[in-house]
Amino acid sequence: MSNIIIVLGAQWGDEGKGKVVDLFSERFQIVARYQGGHNAGHTVFIGERKFILKLVPSGILRPGVAAVIGNGVVIDPAALLAEIDALEAAGIDVAGQLKISNRAHVIFPFHRMIEKVGEGRPDRVAIGTTSRGIGPCYEDKIARRGIRMADLVDPGSLETLYRWLAADKQTTAHAFGVAEEFDCDAILARYLEMAERIRPMVCDTAKLLNDAIAAGRNILFEGAQGTMLDIDHGTYPFVTSSSAAAGGACAGSGVAPTRITGILGVSKAYITRVGGGPFPTELRDERGERLRKAGKEYGAVTGRPRRCGWFDVPLLRYTAMVNGFDSIVVTKLDVLDDLEQIPVCVAYRINGKIADSMPATEREIESIEPVYENLPGWNSPTFGIDRWDSLPARARDYLKFLESSTGVEIGCISTGPERNQTMILPGSKMERLLPGDTPG
Ligand code: IMP
Repeated sequence: MSNIIIVLGAQWGDEGKGKVVDLFSERFQIVARYQGGHNAGHTVFIGERKFILKLVPSGILRPGVAAVIGNGVVIDPAALLAEIDALEAAGIDVAGQLKISNRAHVIFPFHRMIEKVGEGRPDRVAIGTTSRGIGPCYEDKIARRGIRMADLVDPGSLETLYRWLAADKQTTAHAFGVAEEFDCDAILARYLEMAERIRPMVCDTAKLLNDAIAAGRNILFEGAQGTMLDIDHGTYPFVTSSSAAAGGACAGSGVAPTRITGILGVSKAYITRVGGGPFPTELRDERGERLRKAGKEYGAVTGRPRRCGWFDVPLLRYTAMVNGFDSIVVTKLDVLDDLEQIPVCVAYRINGKIADSMPATEREIESIEPVYENLPGWNSPTFGIDRWDSLPARARDYLKFLESSTGVEIGCISTGPERNQTMILPGSKMERLLPGDTPG
């Protein structure tokens, strides 16, 4: 039987999924993305080499592993080709390994222009997006006027669809007082040219994935962003425009929920967020700065400093609920190495009462008073440790505390950016759910 596993962010993104997926991918024949676009940034270190993957699933870094971009992803062809060029220059067989859904939607330059209009309006609170045109592309998808990869690679239909959409966008821009014109013909010509390079990789990836399952192959779904940025379950409106939570893997790939055999979350040993929006455990002082420095917390895509805070148990309980995590990976434990005490938020107090669910509105989340429990720090290096028994006793206690207070098994711990700076705990559910080391 195939192992069909979803790995996704349990917080606001940037949890270290890239490394985790890269590490697990040796056990899978296919790694697939199901949502988001080049707003995601997965950093993977292999020896001295650093790869920042935005659109291409990190499985591409394993020779022989097929990397699939599913129908739920939005694709900027220029960003895709730039990434392909960089990977090919590093000797990776992208043409042989990458498959792109014919149903994935295409981002055009006018999507970025429309995003600027929305984000820049003086009377609105900006979401702090990555300015990649992601939201406006999903808007067109849902409004049923979007252009898909199947259209991009079909010159007969692309021109008509493109001219309709471009005219709509120009009208919208003018209505909002944006004078910026774009060269419609030049963009079309460029997209037709890029389509030539992309065409051989475009196919029906839902069929490809389901055929692979029928043949007993293992598939790893790689979430982008994190659950708290999910369009439905995140801190709306400060979210991304796609279904980052586990349910999105089925809609965004064409693989049925009945096929999924495991759902694994990835969480930092603390928490970060980029962009705007409420953040109950945020540290706005030098302690936050310290976490940022120690954890090198700067956005992989935009370079923006990440906001940092203490581990948030109610938030993790919530994301475990909406995703049904079987087990989680805790990353960046080593960032906490030299702290005397480590506060952990164990409950939310709102208007003097302990909340029993995640509030829906920004106003309510902003009003949360985190209730902290202080745990003793271990004050010794854990960097690179790859065995549970070798961790300092207090680091083990910290992890056990997170496990018991969230109610989710911690099945894997990461103590550094390299593949080998990781431990999958023997006897854990995580170990049982992952296929054996060598795929059959
Ligand atoms: P968008 O996805 O560019 O529309 O941005 C919406 C929100 O999601 C902003 O707060 C971004 O900073 C955040 N975001 C988007 N992609 C990522 C990611 O990969 N990691 C963390 N935050 C992200």
